[in-house]
Amino acid sequence: MTLQPGYGIGLRRQHFSYLLEHGTAGVDWFEIISEDLFGEGGRPWAVAERVRREKPVVLHGTGLAIGNAAPPSRVYLEGLARVIERIEPSWISDHLSWGAAGGVYSHELLPLPYDEEALAHVCERLDAVQEKLGRRLLLENPSTYLSFRRSTITEFEFMNEVMRRTGAGVLLDVNNVYVSSVNVGLDPIAYIDGLNPAGVGQIHLAGHTRYPTFVMDTHVGPVPDEVWALYRRAIARFGEVPTLVEWDTDVPPFETVAAEASRARETAREALAAEASRARDAGARGSRTVAPSSTREGHVLGV
Ligand SMILES: [Fe+2]
Repeated sequence: MTLQPGYGIGLRRQHFSYLLEHGTAGVDWFEIISEDLFGEGGRPWAVAERVRREKPVVLHGTGLAIGNAAPPSRVYLEGLARVIERIEPSWISDHLSWGAAGGVYSHELLPLPYDEEALAHVCERLDAVQEKLGRRLLLENPSTYLSFRRSTITEFEFMNEVMRRTGAGVLLDVNNVYVSSVNVGLDPIAYIDGLNPAGVGQIHLAGHTRYPTFVMDTHVGPVPDEVWALYRRAIARFGEVPTLVEWDTDVPPFETVAAEASRARETAREALAAEASRARDAGARGSRTVAPSSTREGHVLGV
């Protein structure tokens, strides 16, 4: 099933009772954490199947660790394949990160250096994962707290090259772009303006927590103004990309999170209208200021 552009929320256990009792009205689609369904029954599956009967779902993983040195776990991929077969997601995603080395496992989504060696490594593993699952993946940009001296390209250039080499897409987490911009000086505007629009398949919105010397990606809501501002720019550039609100700290009632998804819809529509108006104005200015010439004859300038 192809998901139409719409506005969703992450499925969270705090809303299980509400969803079983009231259903899914108020949001267009749901994102389910893949690993929550690795057990084959129980309440997570009861809720997931109820939700799936009513709305499209996508699967979002945290355990693939595409940057690990070791090959992708066969057990993990087989578990994911079983979940995919049963829940039939519109698409699947995971993170551009690593999480284990030398038998030591971290539960963090650790960032990679951005250079040719890491690029070749990630692409080789991603090719293998996509072939094994028979599906294209979306990879989410990380929220970062450090950067590597050995990086030779920017994060968005790395993402663009991963898309070009593997056919994978990008899940653009706008809050992560903001968090990284504060913590490691990434340029958020250059990021959004530089990412290849053809591969951006989904957007995440979330909140963060500000500390004296850094910003933490806590997914506490509501979405802050600075993230909405970047979201407007992303929508102006990428169009009406399916958008999802992640709210994981102090999770409020379902209706509150659903209202934040509705705010995303309104914000996106405003951004698209503003972009259309800007393009019209630019066209009108162009038609006034650009004199006809032999090289321009036949071009339509403005509307
Ligand atoms: Fe995210």
